[in-house]
Amino acid sequence: MVIKNLIVLMCFVFLLGNVSVAQDYEYIGAVKCKMCHNKTSTGKQYNIWANGPHANALTSLKSEKSKEYAKANGIADAAKEASCLKCHSTYYSASEDLMATITEKEGVSCESCHGPGSAYKSMSVMKSHEKSLEKGLILPTKDVCITCHNEKNPFHKPFDYDASVKKIAHPNPAVK
Ligand code: HEC
Ligand code: HEC
Ligand code: HEC
Ligand code: HEC
Repeated sequence: MVIKNLIVLMCFVFLLGNVSVAQDYEYIGAVKCKMCHNKTSTGKQYNIWANGPHANALTSLKSEKSKEYAKANGIADAAKEASCLKCHSTYYSASEDLMATITEKEGVSCESCHGPGSAYKSMSVMKSHEKSLEKGLILPTKDVCITCHNEKNPFHKPFDYDASVKKIAHPNPAVK
């Protein structure tokens, strides 16, 4: 009897553990970050991203280059092809269960580099560097970039981290 109860309890704890991990880290989308990260005084991160290569990464899957590549490789439509979308879109980069309010239209969004934001997005967490990191915020380095900037991309160019990170920089002038 005791053993049976213990097993039931252990199963319950195990399930609960899994559920809370899944709920902690969901993708909320760049529009949610925009509320707080689009002021001139703190660096307009949203605008910089929206006008940069990552936000527009889905457009390339409709380009002539993509069409030619798709035709030569038996892909019906690169813009709908999972093996292209996983690097050109945050929405298609991870399990759909984790996609909360992010949409399919965002391209490579904030959360592909900074981690899914559902648990760190609140002001009380974000104001603290330590709490943000505890709740899943990532301050990305080269390791994050090369999950996509690698030879599996059919149009890969050698990746120069220092030069690349400057091209997408969106610092907060109020920090430091
Ligand atoms: C409710 C407001 C709010 C929302 C929503 C929000 N942030 Fe923040 N974030 C802040 C504040 C406040 C800071 C502290 C620095 C500052 O004033 O900009 C911060 C800091 C950061 C930092 C720097 C952290 C550090 O310690 O160096 C990153 C990166 C960041 N946010 C990314 C995001 C991303 C990505 C999203 C969306 C998924 C997001 N934030 C949503 C308010 C917010
Ligand atoms: C989720 C995948 C993904 C991650 C992670 C990622 N990138 Fe990209 N990046 C792309 C894609 C896709 C493009 C091509 C966009 C387009 O033109 O369609 C791109 C384009 C770029 C470009 C413009 C092309 C160029 O070489 O000038 C720069 C710069 C860049 N990324 C820098 C970075 C840096 C720095 C990091 C890490 C901090 C990073 N990227 C992380 C997918 C990613
Ligand atoms: C491993 C991640 C990854 C995969 C898979 C991937 N891409 Fe990309 N793609 C990138 C990155 C990163 C860039 C930016 C490269 C750069 O300019 O440095 C890019 C750039 C491109 C470009 C712009 C190239 C140029 O020079 O103008 C096109 C077009 C493109 N990809 C199409 C595709 C197609 C079509 C597929 C699927 C068959 C695909 N990609 C699969 C990561 C990927
Ligand atoms: C391609 C990867 C990438 C994407 C996409 C991206 N960031 Fe960043 N972000 C970085 C890197 C790299 C840094 C610098 C990290 C560091 O200083 O250690 C950074 C820094 C920041 C900072 C801190 C700035 C500072 O000076 O304190 C904020 C805030 C931020 N990002 C918000 C955002 C928001 C909001 C989005 C989407 C609208 C976004 N980022 C999209 C890579 C990215």
